[in-house]
Amino acid sequence: MALLENRVALVTGAGRGIGAAVAQGLAAEGACVVVNDLGASLEGAGVECGPAREVADGIVKAGGTAIADDTDITDFDAVEAMIDRATAEFGRLDIVINVAGILRDGMIFKMTEDMWDAVINVHLKGTFNTARHASVHWRENRGGQYRLINFVSGSGVYGAPSQPNYAAAKLGIVGLTYSCANALRGYGVTSNCIAPVATTRMTEALGNRGTFDYSPGNEKLSPKNVVPPVLYLASSRSDWLNRRIIAAGNGRISLYTNYDEQVAVEAETENSVWTNEAAFEAMECSFKEAKEPPNAFDPKP
Ligand SMILES: NC(=O)c1ccc[n+]([C@@H]2O[C@H](COP(=O)([O-])OP(=O)(O)OC[C@H]3O[C@@H](n4cnc5c(N)ncnc54)[C@H](O)[C@@H]3O)[C@@H](O)[C@H]2O)c1
Repeated sequence: MALLENRVALVTGAGRGIGAAVAQGLAAEGACVVVNDLGASLEGAGVECGPAREVADGIVKAGGTAIADDTDITDFDAVEAMIDRATAEFGRLDIVINVAGILRDGMIFKMTEDMWDAVINVHLKGTFNTARHASVHWRENRGGQYRLINFVSGSGVYGAPSQPNYAAAKLGIVGLTYSCANALRGYGVTSNCIAPVATTRMTEALGNRGTFDYSPGNEKLSPKNVVPPVLYLASSRSDWLNRRIIAAGNGRISLYTNYDEQVAVEAETENSVWTNEAAFEAMECSFKEAKEPPNAFDPKP
């Protein structure tokens, strides 16, 4: 039996790039796939229903099962209708994978309100919308092996200087994912993040100038290299894996640490209330010694 036989998946942003590769990978493993994509430009403008349909048609031609959907994931009510359509069409919904995304880059001192809102809307609100409506279905049908898989980014983990909106949205998605992991595990849901790296229209303009060589010929950065850990998370083998970030791409699959207290100091007064100077001294004494976490955006020596 194929890995994902009898499982139904919804993938947002599946008309291009990594989402398309994920949808094709799911279908090749036997899943029925709802291929969602608004057909937006990289900056989030415009609508064309071609990309979702092309990917869904390609899956069907290859012998798989898929339907195309061009819902704008920022629309709360429309996303509810999309989830209803998925369950009506296939009788169930096991896997939701939030891949859709846009970019409106700019330094914080140049960022407009529109740039901020557009990116927060697609990434953070879009992920909330699908998780919110799918969770109702999972709660009503508790006891499955349901999967919420949300795409995040090293941009948020490390703090990309020219992407304050995108970094905030992606780290917001981490918090949302952790919350869902704790809230929904009783209903049979696991909730995890994927932090990908791949050559797509989002990154190809960078060429080989940055940390990675995004030239189209570099197979290590093919979106296909992001797919195996997503399939693993989507499968029933991954029950044990919850509330984690997995990075994928460039030939690597890695597990990130989760946030936790690193070092603590305690007030030693009778009522445990710090004086300012005692707190300052204790913080400097203990926190300066703590190991600095890696920062991908440190200036190069
Ligand atoms: N490519 C990378 O190296 C990289 C790195 C870190 C994170 N990511 C994340 O991975 C995901 C996929 O990125 P990609 O590189 O494949 O990008 P991409 O631009 O190739 O694909 C994104 C897709 O999302 C769709 N989309 C945008 N707004 C939408 C909306 N409102 N409703 C429905 N669909 C919408 C677009 O039409 C597009 O087809 C994104 O969440 C991105 O932030 C990518």
